[in-house]
Amino acid sequence: MSNPRMQGPQMGRGPMGKGPAGKGDMPKARKGTLPRIIKLLMEDYKWPFLLAMLFMAIYSIGNISPSIFIEKISSIILRFVEAKDWDAAKAELVPVMIVMVTILVSTIVLNYFYARLMAIITQGFLDKMRKRMFNAMQALPIKYFDAHGHGDIMSHYTNDIDTLRQLVSQSLPRIFQSGIMLVGMLGIMLWFSMNLMAVVLVGVFGMTFAVKHIGGKSASNFIRQQKSIGKLEGYVEEIMNGQKVVKVFCHEEASQADFDKVNAQLCEDATKATRFANILGPVMNNIGNMLYVIIAVAGAAFITLRTPNASLNGLFSGSFGSVLELSVVISFLGIAKQFTGQVNGIAQQFNSIVMALAGADRIFQLMDEAPEADEGYVTLVNAEEQPDGSLREADHRTGVWAWRHPHKADGTVTFERLRGDVRLFDVDFSYVEGKKVLEDVTLWAKPGQKIAFVGATGAGKTTITNLINRFYDLEDGKIRYDGINITKIKKPDLRRSLGVVLQDVNLFTGTVMDNIRYGKLDATDEECVKAAKLANAHDFITRLPQGYDTMLTANGANLSQGQRQLISIARAAVADPPVMILDEATSSIDTRTEALVQKGMDALMKDRTVFVIAHRLSTVRNSDAIMVLDHGRIIERGSHTDLIAQKGTYYKLYTGAFELE
Ligand SMILES: Nc1ncnc2c1ncn2[C@@H]1O[C@H](COP(=O)(O)OP(=O)(O)O)[C@@H](O)[C@H]1O
Ligand SMILES: [Mg+2]
Repeated sequence: MSNPRMQGPQMGRGPMGKGPAGKGDMPKARKGTLPRIIKLLMEDYKWPFLLAMLFMAIYSIGNISPSIFIEKISSIILRFVEAKDWDAAKAELVPVMIVMVTILVSTIVLNYFYARLMAIITQGFLDKMRKRMFNAMQALPIKYFDAHGHGDIMSHYTNDIDTLRQLVSQSLPRIFQSGIMLVGMLGIMLWFSMNLMAVVLVGVFGMTFAVKHIGGKSASNFIRQQKSIGKLEGYVEEIMNGQKVVKVFCHEEASQADFDKVNAQLCEDATKATRFANILGPVMNNIGNMLYVIIAVAGAAFITLRTPNASLNGLFSGSFGSVLELSVVISFLGIAKQFTGQVNGIAQQFNSIVMALAGADRIFQLMDEAPEADEGYVTLVNAEEQPDGSLREADHRTGVWAWRHPHKADGTVTFERLRGDVRLFDVDFSYVEGKKVLEDVTLWAKPGQKIAFVGATGAGKTTITNLINRFYDLEDGKIRYDGINITKIKKPDLRRSLGVVLQDVNLFTGTVMDNIRYGKLDATDEECVKAAKLANAHDFITRLPQGYDTMLTANGANLSQGQRQLISIARAAVADPPVMILDEATSSIDTRTEALVQKGMDALMKDRTVFVIAHRLSTVRNSDAIMVLDHGRIIERGSHTDLIAQKGTYYKLYTGAFELE
C-alpha cells in the first residue's frame, strides 16, 4: 500500500450567519483583551513597534513646540511693536523662526517614517492574527462547525480583523500621541501660568462629562451596528448560495422582504451610532471654543486686575512668581485649542476602541476554543518484514504499513500490521444529549470484507462512518481497528488509513487534477489519471474544455452532481487506503454509469475493507454483509440471500415499493 492519505476537510453548509457579535445584546470585551493584543503585538513586532512609538513621541513633542514659539514670538513682537524698532525685532525673530521651522520640518520627515513603519507593523500583525485564527479554526472539532454559523466565523476574518486594524494602526497610536501631547502641554501650561491652566482644566472636565454621557451611548450603538453588519452578510451569503432554491420556489419577494428587515435594522443601528458620534464632535468643539473666549477674558482680567505690590498679586501672576505677560495669554489661546483638540481626539477613538476590543474578543474566543482533542499515541509507520515474520519500523517507504503501539505498562513497542479490520462493539451515540442516534451497534468488518448499510434517511448510516472517522466521540461502546481501540490511535494516522467519500462532495478551487491529488499530495499525474480511470471519471474529464486542467470554482459548480461524485471517488482512490468508506458515493450517477463505476469500484474495493452506504440495493447486493438500520439500531444483518430468505425489512425494500429502481 502506498502512502494512504487523509481525505479533505468536511465543509458542510452552515445555517444563516448569526452575526459577529455573539449572543448577548451588548457584548463587552472580557477583561485582559487589550493587554493580550499588546502582548501579541510585542511578540511579533517588539522593536519596530517601540521604534514607531519613539517616532510618535518625538513627533508629538514637536507638535506642541509651536505654543512655546508663539509665546516667544509674540513677546518679541509686543515689545518691539511698541518701540517701532523693526530691525531689533528682526534680529531676535530670525533665530527663533529658524529653530521652529527646523523642528517642524523634521517632525514631518519623522512622521513619514513613522507612517511607513506603522503600515508594515499593522499589516504584518494582521497577517499573523489571521494565520493564528486559521490555525485555531482548522484544529476545531467538527462539533464546533455544527454549532456556529459560517457567516459568524467568516466575520472574524472580515469585520473583526478590520476593527483590530483600526485599533492598532490608529486608535492606539493616536491615544499614545494625545497622551504625550497632553502631558507636555500640561507641563508648558504649568510653567506659564497655573491660573490659566486651572481654567483650561475646568473646561476639560466639562468635556469628559460630555464624552461619558454621549460617548457611552454611542459605543453600544456601534457594537449593535457591527452585529447587524454580520447579520446582513450572513443573510446575503445564504441567499446567494441558495439562489436556485429561491428561484424555483419563487421566493424572491419573500427573501427581499427578509433582506429589507435585516437591512432596516442595520440602517437604524448605524443611524443611531453615527447620530451620537456626530453629536459628540460638535459638543466637544463648542466647549473648546467657549474655553477660547474664557481664556482670553480671564487672561485680560488677570493682567488688568494686577496692581503693583498688592497682596492679591500672587493670584494674578504667572507661575513661579513670574509676571503674567500678554504673550503668555496669546500662546495659551493656542494651547487651550490644541489641548481640547487632543481630548476630543481621544474621545473620538473611544468608539473604535470599544468596537475593536469586542472584535478582538470574538477573535480570541475562536482562538481559545478547545481544539479537537487527540489523546492517541499509536501511530502509523512504514514497516518491513523480518525473516521471522515479525515487523520492524523502516525509515523509508516500504509499501507495508504498521501500527506502532508503545505500551506504557512495560515500556515495550509492538508493531501491528495495518490490515483494515474494523469492529464496533455496543456503540451508543447521540449528537444532542438525550437524543440517541445509534444504539447498541455491533458489527465486524474483517480485512477485505465489504459491509453495506441500508436504511431509511436519518437511520444513522452516515453517523456510523462519522464515528469510525472520529469526527465525533462515542458515548458508549468501543471501536477497534486492527485490534486497537481507535481512541488510542492518533487521529491524523487513523484518518490517513481511511479513504472516505463523504455524502456531501466538496471540491476546492483548483484544477480537476489538483482536486484528485487532494487524496495524496505527492501523487504523480499518472497516479491521478489512473485513479480517475478506476473511478470511471476519466472519460468525462477528457471531454471537459481543458481536460484535467479545467479549473473548478465554487465547489465545482461547472460540473454535474454525478461528475463531482466521480471526482471525489477518484480522490479517495488515489490515496489507496486499506479501508474505504463510501457514503452514497454513487447516488447521483445514472444506472449505466454506475454499472461502469461499479466495475471500477470492484477493482477499487478489491483487498480492501469497504463500508458502503447506497440507496440502490443493486449496489449492495454483492456485499459480504448487509446491515439494515432503523432508528439507530441494526434490525437485520446477513448476506443478500440470507436477508431475502428472512423476508423481513430488507426483503420488503428489495421487492416492494421502497425499491428505487
Ligand atoms: N451534526 C448533527 N447534529 C445533530 N444531529 C445530527 C447531526 N447529523 C445527523 N444528525 C441526526 O442524526 C440522525 C442520523 O443521521 P445520519 O446518520 O446522517 O442519517 P443517514 O442514515 O441518513 O445517513 C438523524 O436523525 C439526524 O437528524
Ligand atoms: Mg447519510
